[in-house]
Amino acid sequence: MPAITIDDQTIDVPDGSTVLDAANQLGIEIPTLCFLKGYLPSTSCQVCLVRDRANGKLVPSCATKIVDGMQIDSETAEVHAARRTALELLLSDHVGDCLAPCFFACPAHMDIPLMLRQLGGHDLHHAIETIKRDIAIPAVLGRICTKPCEKGCRRSSADDPVSVCELKRYAADQDLAAEQSYTPECAADSGKRVAIIGAGPTGLSAAYYLRQRGHACRLIEATKQLGGRLRLEIDPVTMPRETLDAEIAQIVRLDVDVETETAVDSREAFETLVESYDVVLIAAGMDAVKLADEWSVESSRRGIDITRETYQTKRGNVFAAGSAVRGKCLFVRSAADGKEVAGCIDQFLSGETVTAPAKPFASRLGRLATDEMKQFLAGAASVPVQILTKKEEYSSDQVADQSDRCLSCGCVAHGDCRLENYSARYGADPNRFGTRQGKYEVVGRGGKVLFEPGKCIKCELCIQIASESKNALGLSFVGRGFDVRVSVPFDGNYDEGMGELAARCIAACPTGALYFDRKTE
Ligand code: SF4
Ligand code: SF4
Ligand code: SF4
Ligand code: FES
Repeated sequence: MPAITIDDQTIDVPDGSTVLDAANQLGIEIPTLCFLKGYLPSTSCQVCLVRDRANGKLVPSCATKIVDGMQIDSETAEVHAARRTALELLLSDHVGDCLAPCFFACPAHMDIPLMLRQLGGHDLHHAIETIKRDIAIPAVLGRICTKPCEKGCRRSSADDPVSVCELKRYAADQDLAAEQSYTPECAADSGKRVAIIGAGPTGLSAAYYLRQRGHACRLIEATKQLGGRLRLEIDPVTMPRETLDAEIAQIVRLDVDVETETAVDSREAFETLVESYDVVLIAAGMDAVKLADEWSVESSRRGIDITRETYQTKRGNVFAAGSAVRGKCLFVRSAADGKEVAGCIDQFLSGETVTAPAKPFASRLGRLATDEMKQFLAGAASVPVQILTKKEEYSSDQVADQSDRCLSCGCVAHGDCRLENYSARYGADPNRFGTRQGKYEVVGRGGKVLFEPGKCIKCELCIQIASESKNALGLSFVGRGFDVRVSVPFDGNYDEGMGELAARCIAACPTGALYFDRKTE
């Protein structure tokens, strides 16, 4: 049996084994896109490159047979750079949005298309869960938000944006009215305590997400009631107080300690908090800056000084967020700050390095041509937008209709796509070799299986798998150069091409090129 050494670990393997086989046996993970055990390697992706020490060459591990005494490097900077370049070459003619435009437009980065899909399917329970993963006060924001998500909605360039904010409000109102409203799980008590100065949108949101991570929270509010500028700046017609009170109550019932009519306006009061709690969060709004000297934190005209990405002041265990650091800002920005600062405080309390919330890797389509927009519109309901006055509400059927106007812009494979995940891991730049040239296209509408040629990396796996079917028409590549695409003979559709093996073909596809149409599932 030949022996091979990978990253200084040696193993004997059967004759005919590949470098990838040996790496698997050693527990060394090598990324692969176009390879699937049991099928012929097409070596089209080159993401599995490793370095052969004998000649210094980079070789695809999935197709390189072992010779006795082989020495391989799989984790050097050179190998990583080569894998990154391989990914960037694949991305250079990739046509797809990993994440919908509204994800980037919403300061809280809510998964809007998922919420809309759930509402379209009358699944209120999961819709509120999706919303509250990122927004602690959706009934409140549903009434006062300036809707940056709708300004960024792709549909607005065809007719009108999807009514994201009203639909979110509907789900939140239904939840508030329900006998058993949604309550997130809270982790076991961490033994850590956080004092939050200010119970406006930032402080309330921070408490909501910190409690879910198991940290005890005390909300300290100078006025008689919780709510901060939500109560002080918004008139009761725009936001009925019972809605505000009910949504605050949902947060407090996560076992948040509350102390009202307590102003932390002296050095002594602040230092007592710093000594008694593991972290102090300043979420006291724009007035906080006036107390910066008392609290021994640095400030500028705008607000308390922090490291922008981590919300940490120079005092280490003192954090600040919302309009206390930004000056006047959108309510949704304040609420989003509350969620983000909770993540940073959690890292601090867990003894981890405090880092900025991770920026996801994203292939992006950018501006669409008219025919590309038509491809999106073909998959969505054509009903016109229905605009509500402040007092009106959608019926449950209208909610489904309005939700179905969503173009489902993000990729079905997001989160499970190996091209996306490896691109994030190796820091691939999707625009390194220029911006996209290919057209966005969805083929197969009307059938169960849809195919997006611009996301196909031509790995051949679906073709090989479909060829095993006795009944299906099979698949093959047609065209030349950049225009090569997976097609079905005799003008058949993709359902007929893959037959009973469609699910296996889709599972093997390393990207989001091939998938079951959610509307027919
Ligand atoms: S196929 Fe993968 S990389 Fe491409 S858009 Fe979808 S998730 Fe992103
Ligand atoms: S159409 Fe839907 S997924 Fe696309 S940007 Fe608008 S809300 Fe988001
Ligand atoms: S559609 Fe087929 S050839 Fe294209 S990436 Fe998916 S499995 Fe590979
Ligand atoms: S070349 Fe080896 S996995 Fe693609």
